[in-house]
Amino acid sequence: MKYDFDKIHNRLNTNSLKYDFATERGMPKGVMPLWVADMDFKVPESIENALKKRCEHGIFGYTDPKEDYYETLYNWFLSRHGWSTNPHNFTFTCTIVFAICTLLRAVTNVGDAVIITQPVYYPFSESVTSNKRKLIISELVNNNGYYTVDFADFEKKITENNVKAFILCNPHNPVGRVWTKEELARLGDICIKHGVFVISDEIHSDFVYGKNKHTVFETVKKEFADICAVCTAPSKTFNIAGLHISNIYIHNAEIRRKFADELFAQGYSQPNVMGLTACQAAYAYGAEWLDELLVYLQGNMKFLDGYIKSNLPQIGFTSPEGTYLAWLDMRSLGLSDKELKSFMANKAGLWLDDGFIFGKGGSGFQRINAACPRSVLAAAMDKLSNAIAALK
Ligand SMILES: Cc1ncc(COP(=O)(O)O)c(C=O)c1O
Repeated sequence: MKYDFDKIHNRLNTNSLKYDFATERGMPKGVMPLWVADMDFKVPESIENALKKRCEHGIFGYTDPKEDYYETLYNWFLSRHGWSTNPHNFTFTCTIVFAICTLLRAVTNVGDAVIITQPVYYPFSESVTSNKRKLIISELVNNNGYYTVDFADFEKKITENNVKAFILCNPHNPVGRVWTKEELARLGDICIKHGVFVISDEIHSDFVYGKNKHTVFETVKKEFADICAVCTAPSKTFNIAGLHISNIYIHNAEIRRKFADELFAQGYSQPNVMGLTACQAAYAYGAEWLDELLVYLQGNMKFLDGYIKSNLPQIGFTSPEGTYLAWLDMRSLGLSDKELKSFMANKAGLWLDDGFIFGKGGSGFQRINAACPRSVLAAAMDKLSNAIAALK
């Protein structure tokens, strides 16, 4: 490998949410953090160099993207996902969650119903309720670790509640599914039939393994383009979440205008200069780094699978089709959510994400972020294994 993903970087004292806020967030001192979804790998040199070069200029005034920025986006999405984009349909925002909240305000009214499929990235429900929309949940079906949509329930909930928007997680955090074209077509058909706008969060789209293939929601069927917004970002892919840059694609001109109006109403206008610089460098020169990273992450998932099968057969684990997040089924330990939370932090010394925060179906689960050097993952699993052995 050209890139060294085994190298351990000290992230302490960098104001890192993952590393530097254990005490503030009620975790014991010295806990090993494998929770929030950023990676413990350094960005490719192309990004670092682009940022350094921009820094050397020494002036950081208001900034806006030009045509070359959109050309870079075009080339990336075409080469990685076979998606031909129109530069006019992109609107940049700082983060994806900000974009989702803004889209909700653009396409729904206060009190309108918005559907999500849980367990799912927990800010989805927060963005619905904090914007005073009504949260409707359709539970995914857990088929022995492989999750699917309950289409009948999804449609029933939409019609019963007069749902106006659906926040789709594509690929899906935390259950690791890369939805197939057929699954997306069924979801989209239901949404079209009932006038539901689809906010497709595709932040994890670059992390797809093996035979699985990411499908951009708007490319599934021609008619889907008009009823959706595709939320993209280089933040997960290239580990630049702190640089706050996302690119939101909306084909429908009327919705795009409403989205722009909502951004304007919030006083958002220009992007962060460093985010813009990093995004362009990442998409222009980062493909080779990402290809190697994907091999490494797949190796991490294989390691987890092997470790769990050999040492922790009481834990359920299905290797994810996509994302760098692993979803551990720990229900057989027989602990309540409160007990499991305390066990993980205080007995195992691990800071993972509690499954219940992703929704009712996450009760008894833990989400582990596997985007770290393999030796760190191995050390974490040893801690877990020792703590479980001591439970007996
Ligand atoms: C599905 C999903 N969407 C959005 C985000 C956060 O993105 P941002 O920081 O750009 O809001 C995450 C982070 O884990 C995520 O998993």
